[in-house]
Amino acid sequence: MLPYLRENFGNPSSRTHDFGLNAAAAVETARSHVAALVGATPREIIFTSGATEANNLAIKGLCAGWQGQAAHIITCATEHPAVLDVLDSVGGTHKDLRVTRVKVDGQGIIDLDALEKALAQGARLLSIMAANNETGVLQPLDEITQRLQGRDVIWHCDAAQAVGKIPVNLRQTRIDLLSISAHKIHGPKGQGALFIRRRRPPLRLQAQIDGGGQERGLRSGTLNVAGIVGFGEACRLCQIEGAADALRLGILRDQLQARLQEALGDRILINGHPQCRLPNALNVSFRGVHGPELLVALRDVALSSGAACSSGSDTPSHVLAAMGRDVTLAAASLRFGLGRSTTVADVEWAATRVIDEVRSCGK
Ligand SMILES: Cc1ncc(COP(=O)(O)O)c(C=O)c1O
Repeated sequence: MLPYLRENFGNPSSRTHDFGLNAAAAVETARSHVAALVGATPREIIFTSGATEANNLAIKGLCAGWQGQAAHIITCATEHPAVLDVLDSVGGTHKDLRVTRVKVDGQGIIDLDALEKALAQGARLLSIMAANNETGVLQPLDEITQRLQGRDVIWHCDAAQAVGKIPVNLRQTRIDLLSISAHKIHGPKGQGALFIRRRRPPLRLQAQIDGGGQERGLRSGTLNVAGIVGFGEACRLCQIEGAADALRLGILRDQLQARLQEALGDRILINGHPQCRLPNALNVSFRGVHGPELLVALRDVALSSGAACSSGSDTPSHVLAAMGRDVTLAAASLRFGLGRSTTVADVEWAATRVIDEVRSCGK
């Protein structure tokens, strides 16, 4: 990224000199790395400031074209606020919009029968994520693809947590719009992309940011070249190292879980499906512990409770509530996220810290 903040500081929209053309070439190389990671073509990738903006562009961009028309949108109760709140906001301005939030089971997996029933009522848009940000639970994308067969519904998928951690191949799914975030794969914060499938008839999205017409008019504003280059490189590295990382992190995550279970027994409860989970994610509730107190006591460990963006708020997790966890257990939950730099020693240290604090908080 550094050369694009220093000597190669050109603006990729300035096509009349070498500085601009070099920056534009770097952006296109990055676009091809992002596309390759998810099985898309570079033309299908629009750079955004992250998955939040990608979700907004996908949902608001589509709904803008449906003003005055009735529309039924299906989503899931455990989606990220960057989907649920966007739908609430669109519903506020689009009076003929009806949103169905499909429930999940106790392990966080979408209820496919309830989805089928919602689809049977006719729907224009489905917004179902690939992997949950709080529990790591993976939604059954193949089964959803099957249920969509023969139905004219657009599928948006928030894949901020999944891309780079599990294989996502857009050539093998029905997904039309896919949101990606760079900082979930060790890229820079404030960078992401929206995949827009090229199809006939083309998907019509209205830009949510107007101006200079960058990104084929869908997202105006001078491109963050260094951020995009970093995002592209993160995607390239994921393609090379992602599978090995996932294997290693899965083993470490299982060790962490086993260590907590061994030490704390039935005082802990694992949240989320034990198998259909991201390899780097672990969400645990602690019985008999005051959640916020535990988090404060563990300030030296980078943990969160609920969504990282809202952790610190007192509202219990809507994800755990949808999975049927009672308020106390939902509030006494911790999210562990393992990454490329996490070592066996880190896991051992974190487990010891958590076990000690749970024992003393619970006294
Ligand atoms: C599932 C999911 N969607 C959306 C977002 C928002 O992504 P960004 O921070 O890139 O806007 C996140 C990040 O926490 C996420 O986990």
